[in-house]
Amino acid sequence: MKSYTQKDDKQYKDQLKERIKKIKKQRNAVLIAHNYQRDEIQEIADICGDSLALSKAVVDTKADVIVFCGVLFMAETASILNPKKTVLLPVKEAGCPMVDMITVEMLQKKKKQHPDAVVVAYINTSAAVKAESDICCTSSNAVEVVRSLKQKQVIFVPDKNLGSYVQSKIPEKEIILWEGFCPCHMRVHEGQIKQARKLYPNAEFLTHPECEASVVALADHVTSTAGMIKYVGKSKAKEFIIGTECGILYQLKKQHPDRKFYIPTDGLVCADMKLTTLGWVLHSLEYLKTKIQVPDNIRVKAKKAIDKMIEIPGV
Ligand code: 13P
Ligand code: SF4
Repeated sequence: MKSYTQKDDKQYKDQLKERIKKIKKQRNAVLIAHNYQRDEIQEIADICGDSLALSKAVVDTKADVIVFCGVLFMAETASILNPKKTVLLPVKEAGCPMVDMITVEMLQKKKKQHPDAVVVAYINTSAAVKAESDICCTSSNAVEVVRSLKQKQVIFVPDKNLGSYVQSKIPEKEIILWEGFCPCHMRVHEGQIKQARKLYPNAEFLTHPECEASVVALADHVTSTAGMIKYVGKSKAKEFIIGTECGILYQLKKQHPDRKFYIPTDGLVCADMKLTTLGWVLHSLEYLKTKIQVPDNIRVKAKKAIDKMIEIPGV
């Protein structure tokens, strides 16, 4: 019996890519991928980016079908902004554990305890939680969003680390934190960064604000995935320690081939983001599965919270 070699694997992937390209055209589909997706998915995507870039990119797209290679809350955001389009999530189980750390009922209870507070929902929330919130934010604009609010008291959900980071930047606000977190970014520890700094003394340390405060405190720059890619282009440094999910290495290396990147721990893998494979993307386009649609009663309210964020000048 012939064993399956790396060459066979490449051939198989190339065939899948060709079939995806063909059916994408027939369906008038656009394929968008988050910066944490597998390399081969980012390679065939029409647009890659962070949560904010992808949410904006799909507004008024001319495509009939949006294939969202990412996780459920991202596909929901695309559907909220494009209710007439078919939005597909190739793997329906691809979720985000942080999203599941808050429900509408829990948020309603918190709002009752703080009736004067404004609710800011990180984009990593369900459509229903967004609908229960006043405004959304992403990791790239959370500070600007909170700063733009007239209220002093802010209920920030669900990421306690992003909320703490915002609080450190705007001490004049009173931020009521939620106990949510990203299991992937929580795997980065202060000690690993200190060790990486010793190993690569000339490297800059860039981190995502979903990491713990003790890690964020060691960073040269704190930003979203897209923010990191942009920052590297402007920096004089040649080496970078990267505090976010390893999928970002694809874009970093592609856009900055002259620089070196180091991931401080091999645990920086988001299991949900890696569920999407070429096979599932093809399946999704062939069978138009899984359609993500947000019911109108939730969609309209959630859209208000997203629109408020997008309308802030410079965000
Ligand atoms: P970005 O906003 O940087 O795309 O991050 C989304 C996310 O899920 C981070 O874990
Ligand atoms: Fe959710 Fe973390 Fe994965 Fe982002 S990296 S999708 S926050 S589990």
